[in-house]
Amino acid sequence: MTASDRSFPADFLWGSATAGHQVEGGNFNSDCWALEHASPSIFAEPSGDAVDQWNRFDDDMAILAAIGLKAYRFGIEWARIEPVEGVFARSALDHYQRCIDACHQRGITPVVTFHHFTIPLWLARKGGMTSDQFPALFARYCETVTRALRGLVVVCSMNEMNVPLIIRDVALGLLAGEEGAAKRAAAEAVLGAPIESNFLFTPPDALLRNGLGAHAAGRDAIKSVRPEVQVGITLSLQDEQAEPGAEAVRDARVAKMVDPFLDLVAGDDFIGVQTYTRTTSRKDGTHGPRAGEPVTAMGYEDRPDALAAVCRYVWHRTRTPIIVTENGFSGDDDDRRAAFIGESLGALQCAIADGVDVRGYFYWSLLDNYEWMAGYGPKFGIVGVDRATQQRRIKRSALAYGAIARAGGLDVGSTAPTPMPLASGTPIGVT
Ligand code: FCB
Repeated sequence: MTASDRSFPADFLWGSATAGHQVEGGNFNSDCWALEHASPSIFAEPSGDAVDQWNRFDDDMAILAAIGLKAYRFGIEWARIEPVEGVFARSALDHYQRCIDACHQRGITPVVTFHHFTIPLWLARKGGMTSDQFPALFARYCETVTRALRGLVVVCSMNEMNVPLIIRDVALGLLAGEEGAAKRAAAEAVLGAPIESNFLFTPPDALLRNGLGAHAAGRDAIKSVRPEVQVGITLSLQDEQAEPGAEAVRDARVAKMVDPFLDLVAGDDFIGVQTYTRTTSRKDGTHGPRAGEPVTAMGYEDRPDALAAVCRYVWHRTRTPIIVTENGFSGDDDDRRAAFIGESLGALQCAIADGVDVRGYFYWSLLDNYEWMAGYGPKFGIVGVDRATQQRRIKRSALAYGAIARAGGLDVGSTAPTPMPLASGTPIGVT
């Protein structure tokens, strides 16, 4: 590839992402809101007003457009739209219609996530995804929303369907010991259901049956109303590496947590790739960052090259178009965030030049927002928020990313990052 190569397609979606519960505030009827207010809670702090995007959506789109971005991935909240089983709130649908309109008015492509970790409390009481009713209930919600909303373009049916498997040890760790048992009891009391009804604690068999079943039913419901809408699911994918001798450990992880999901959604309109880091499997069966390597505020190894490696793997295995629906850096060092974005996109540009079909990149996150159980600690945003005043502050990383987006790519020249080996050791040579 030469210095002048600009291999991102002309209609590439240069965007940034958020999720409803993490930015809107006041998601009162959801299971996560209830869990945040359990005492003791598995959440560090409640989401509260979050960053009040419920009231500031249009202002945030003005910021996104000023940065130079052309697409916004955001979530709609099932708990607001169907606060009581079978009762759909016209006011919530109207609100989300205004959000979609605000995007289009500014030339921003809306990418809408229908399910991003949270569900209505009434559905948690039925067991959430462990209930065999889940796929049909999700399909009804998808159909209602798709009939109601004009201007949908790209829809992510569900966010990170495989993440409960990826974080299973961490999630079970939260419930371990005396303190964990107290948190579980408090959580189950507020939910009125076992903790497994919350998406992040969904057992593996329920994910494969009802989770992927819901995606298929939801996708078909959306397509039956608006066949032109591009529908896909997003997956949590890390660059899976192995220390010498631990290849079998790594391959077993990939065979359990990645491949079955990829195989079941290959052939969708797109696959949403969400990659933050690489992880290295060890001979003792554990995995994580390599010793001595820099890590981000979330404890992830700081590896911008992970994204391109994962995209190569996904394309090689599925031949399904990719949208990078999340990739990001957590921490207070915004210069490092800017560099991380540039390095991630540089490696991605090489992958695209090699034939990997990537159609968009959404930096996580547009705003410093509510990071689930970690509360407001880790900062991912290219736009900072003073939560006392809800004032936004555009960071330098936003300007750096905006410059790349406006130029339609990077001048990589001789400093082009070397593509990483494929995640499960498959040789490179993707076209
Ligand atoms: C992903 C989630 C997203 C955000 C980032 C940091 O797993 O989809 O909501 O929390 O991690």
